[in-house]
Amino acid sequence: MAYHVLPPKGLLNDPNGLVHFKGVTHVFFQWNPGALDHGYKAWGHAVTKDLVTYDYHEPALLPDQPYDKNGCYSGSAWVHEEKLYLFYTGNVKNENGERESYQCVAVSEDGFTFTKLGPVIEKVPGYTAHVRDPKVFPGAADDFYMILGAQRDDLTGDTLVFHSKDLLHWTFQGSLLEERLDLGYMWECPDLLQFPKKDVFLFSPQGLAPEGIFYQNIFQTGYVLGRYEEGVFKKDPGSFEELDRGFEFYAPQSFQMPDGRTLLMGWMGTMPKEKEETMPTNEEGWAHHLSILREVTVENGILYQRPVRELDHFFEKQGETVEDHVFSGILGRASKLSMDRKGDCLKACQLVFEEDTTVTYENHKLIFQRRAWDTQALEKRVVVLPRGLQSLDIYVDHSSMEIFVNGGEEVLSSRIFWKEKDLQVNIVDVSQFTASVYAFYEKSTP
Ligand code: FRU
Repeated sequence: MAYHVLPPKGLLNDPNGLVHFKGVTHVFFQWNPGALDHGYKAWGHAVTKDLVTYDYHEPALLPDQPYDKNGCYSGSAWVHEEKLYLFYTGNVKNENGERESYQCVAVSEDGFTFTKLGPVIEKVPGYTAHVRDPKVFPGAADDFYMILGAQRDDLTGDTLVFHSKDLLHWTFQGSLLEERLDLGYMWECPDLLQFPKKDVFLFSPQGLAPEGIFYQNIFQTGYVLGRYEEGVFKKDPGSFEELDRGFEFYAPQSFQMPDGRTLLMGWMGTMPKEKEETMPTNEEGWAHHLSILREVTVENGILYQRPVRELDHFFEKQGETVEDHVFSGILGRASKLSMDRKGDCLKACQLVFEEDTTVTYENHKLIFQRRAWDTQALEKRVVVLPRGLQSLDIYVDHSSMEIFVNGGEEVLSSRIFWKEKDLQVNIVDVSQFTASVYAFYEKSTP
């Protein structure tokens, strides 16, 4: 992959501990270096200076203590008094085979070597042992909040809030949501994105049944908008919206850059076992990668996700077309296609990447289709675009596609295992668009 975080070997899942610390951005990730399954979880470690290309380092956390012996599960990072604190869940299977979860802290002076300080939170009454994925952020009064994905004893999902003055001693405050929201049996990886006029509560509920074109993946990631204050989120009226409408996107995490931008990346992504076991990259000894970093904003009540702007520096324009219908041979594996609509009367259009991967727009719907690598069946995801289709920015890497619609109003992230060396894209009815292709070049940032 040219511009994605992937495991050096073995299996990767959630992004963890995203943080800018001492001049570089750290991306940790759930990692099983020794096998292509979920039997072991360490925190892998990648570092980027340009938010696009990554150097890999020794894992930051290994499951080597009684309180995390069956996995250093997901969590987050916070910088306090020049030190980098990591918060993660110690997963334990006890001698009776039962799960125990401990919320743990580790600290580092340099961002590379961590000292584990052990559990700071143990079992919460009223909840099962499925309590995990601490996300820590500051409060307004020199204090800190931690939110945790949780499952109530009645097997419904929830998010818990803890409060601290020093990042080490935490007191339980209650549920994050002011009003109970019934959605699935467990909420994983909660996150809170705070903006001047609107806040976003982002989480990954498990156990939502498919409803028409919605909730088509095995597990979902989505958000509700509202207002957050001192550990309480008041949700606006309105529904839970999926953050990404593609086939593979899960367990995202956000963080803030020193310039104030809120960036986010996710795991591409959770999938049924049959699919995971037959992934074409398994033959190369690795599975899964993270998404590109996205900048998140809320504008007029609409959540936008745009590829981090640093990425465009790495793409050079190869061609533009108005009359031609086919870009051929110019789309290598790491490329970008951008299309902007010219007129007002777009009814339908189609992009054909190889023969089975298509993006079709008709009747205010965008349909993304691919051939499943396990069953060989054609499968699709559908997005409704009430305001029509204005633009598409499609980022292609060696085995993925991330489609940004209408300047980030919708995103679809998916794995695609290309068959041809050079991609060809056939744009049907291109006359309604200006379209440009770009190739990715590895280069240093200016
Ligand atoms: C989400 C998740 C988290 C957990 C981690 C374990 O994909 O299940 O809830 O901490 O993965 O790898």
